[in-house]
Amino acid sequence: MNENYYHKISHLEAILLDFSEIINQFLANNIASIVQKESNFIKEVYKPILYSLLNGGKRIRPIVFLLISGFEKNLSQQEIDEFLYTANSIELIHTYSLIHDDLPAMDNDDFRRGIPTCHKKFPEWAAILAGDSLNTLAFYLLCLTNCCVKEKIQILAKYGGISGMILGQALDLSHEKKDFDEPTKDFSSYEDFFKLKGYYKYFKQLALDTKKEEFYQLLMIHYHKTAALFRATIELAIITGKIKENRLFDDRIYQSYIEYGEILGLLFQISDDILDEIGDEKSLGKKTKKDKELGKLTFPMLLGIEKSLEFEKTLAGYCSNLVSNFLIAYTNKDYRDILKTLPYYIINRNK
Ligand code: IPE
Ligand code: IPE
Ligand code: MG
Ligand code: MG
Ligand code: MG
Repeated sequence: MNENYYHKISHLEAILLDFSEIINQFLANNIASIVQKESNFIKEVYKPILYSLLNGGKRIRPIVFLLISGFEKNLSQQEIDEFLYTANSIELIHTYSLIHDDLPAMDNDDFRRGIPTCHKKFPEWAAILAGDSLNTLAFYLLCLTNCCVKEKIQILAKYGGISGMILGQALDLSHEKKDFDEPTKDFSSYEDFFKLKGYYKYFKQLALDTKKEEFYQLLMIHYHKTAALFRATIELAIITGKIKENRLFDDRIYQSYIEYGEILGLLFQISDDILDEIGDEKSLGKKTKKDKELGKLTFPMLLGIEKSLEFEKTLAGYCSNLVSNFLIAYTNKDYRDILKTLPYYIINRNK
């Protein structure tokens, strides 16, 4: 990696920090008081919610939302609210998915974001209810915005729900636990699902090098459990940033935006799998070396670490190049380099 790369990474890290501060402040100042008021200040309800929501978290999804939508600090207060309620609706769905993901019936984890998981800090029922609460609250936040509420609800429901994150979690857990009566079989038929994607060519090559059946099972898991919410992030950002109103916007540009988001999500989950094997517990804020022990289907499990690292690099390069395709219809050129560097940042992260 050259000096220019390090310069770009440090610039990107400064922006990420700045944006995560904006997200954190909005969560602490605006959303925390909504949670308290709406729950009638009943501690059993709001404490587990705020414990999970306000403690750490990289806020990568809302940050991607702000970058893609072209968010700037000098907008009017009304516009800022419009952006931040929408950005945080995604973070709420994500945090709910983590609380439930950590439960004994799922991944059974004791640490998250550097502190005990919600069900370790509070009774298990309280953690389940905190997850449920964040799920519904996300849609409540979208209802506090002025533009395109119905469209935004449909997007978040689709990709955060049974066509997205839930579907992925179900396939992940069904593969691991082998306790579902009629598990889905023949995953190679799902290759068709990916055939229309521009990045399919890389999958096709990789599928040749490994067991095709399991490879498409793995892709179905990762695409749905993680990439789907990144896709929702991009779609919500396009709406909020009014990007379709640019006269140069067309379907080719739209597809590049979508692919960019989906690949960011895939890269994010592949690097999560790799970090589970070779990452540091302290910086990650969660236990490592769990996936193998549980028998999860992951990239390192199927391809080994070396090949997984090589694949993420290829995919990150393709993802970074997509930025030039969609920036034509993008208003905030300042974020150009950041968006181009983001895929590399994701695969080189240690937290
Ligand atoms: C963890 O997500 C779960 C995955 C989808 C890999 P993050 O790594 O974004 O978790 P936080 O929000 O920063 O804690
Ligand atoms: C979680 O994936 C994806 C979700 C939708 C919650 P993981 O189970 O790998 O995430 P971690 O490693 O617990 O953060
Ligand atoms: Mg999991
Ligand atoms: Mg987990
Ligand atoms: Mg993981």
